Amino acid sequence: MPTYYNDKICLIAGTAHTELAQRIAERMDRPLCDAHVGRFPDGEIDIKINDDLRGADCFVLQPLCPPVNENWIELLLLLDCLRRASAGRVTAVMPYYGYARKDRKDEGRVPISAKVVANTLSQGGADRVLTIDMHAAQIQGFYDIPVDHLYAKPVLLHEIRKMGIENPVVVTPDVGGIRMARAYAKQLHADLAIVDKRRVSGSEIAVEHMIGEVEGRNVIIVDDMISTGGSISEAAKVVRHHGAKQIVLAVSHAVLCGPAVERLDACPADAILATDTIPRRGALPKAWHEVSVAGLLARAILNLHESKSLSILFDNFEED
Ligand code: R5P
Repeated sequence: MPTYYNDKICLIAGTAHTELAQRIAERMDRPLCDAHVGRFPDGEIDIKINDDLRGADCFVLQPLCPPVNENWIELLLLLDCLRRASAGRVTAVMPYYGYARKDRKDEGRVPISAKVVANTLSQGGADRVLTIDMHAAQIQGFYDIPVDHLYAKPVLLHEIRKMGIENPVVVTPDVGGIRMARAYAKQLHADLAIVDKRRVSGSEIAVEHMIGEVEGRNVIIVDDMISTGGSISEAAKVVRHHGAKQIVLAVSHAVLCGPAVERLDACPADAILATDTIPRRGALPKAWHEVSVAGLLARAILNLHESKSLSILFDNFEED
């Protein structure tokens, strides 16, 4: 069913990542909507939007990052609030899509959590979803509303190019990341190598094989996310063991939970590039370098509002 909205854009920030919301608003040169998103004394979520949203094109800025359950419910309550306030169109902007690693029933008696997220957002009042590097792109099919799926690649590539890395090899830390690594390799005119990992538990991984040649080469290890840091730090150790020179890590989403910071500090990475889809709270690894997706999201929001294509943002993006 078509959604009708007027020419007013409203940016509504949940509390998941207020810094990124502010950066997006600054890039768009417009204020965030006047809204109170707080907590009642018992911890329940208390929301009140003070601006008139009737007929407006509303964008709710709320990544599903830790604490994911809290942020998820907050997003659902914001969507309900906008629907009841007669917003014209509501887009859930989730730069990080939590629960995306539970996208299939890979053993008996487990939920498909990514589908539950999709069900609740669709039924909760979202007309569209805008996200970046979902762990599994096929999650788009869990929705019957449009899902716009951006890539952090152009933003990270811009930083990688500035580093002037000579003759690089792009490495994926597991076979599931080949598609992403190939996309980076293609744009950098680089070779491709694969670390074949096996997950032993939620936080432990074992490396089985290394496919491809990294000896004497500069390596860029790319992945969609760092969670406990096991996959990418082990990959860094493996490529160094196989003779890699400079090692750069480039990741879309830095969850950094559990032993991640210690693991990253202990691995032989010379630089760690990560985007700001998830807020940073606490210590950071020494080689940390954050790059912002705010400009990319600001451009995407404007293009959506003006019914312009987003695919021009897939390969190259530079802030004005
Ligand atoms: C795996 O399929 C993903 O692409 C990441 O490599 C993984 O989720 C990272 O998790 P961790 O940092 O805990 O190894």
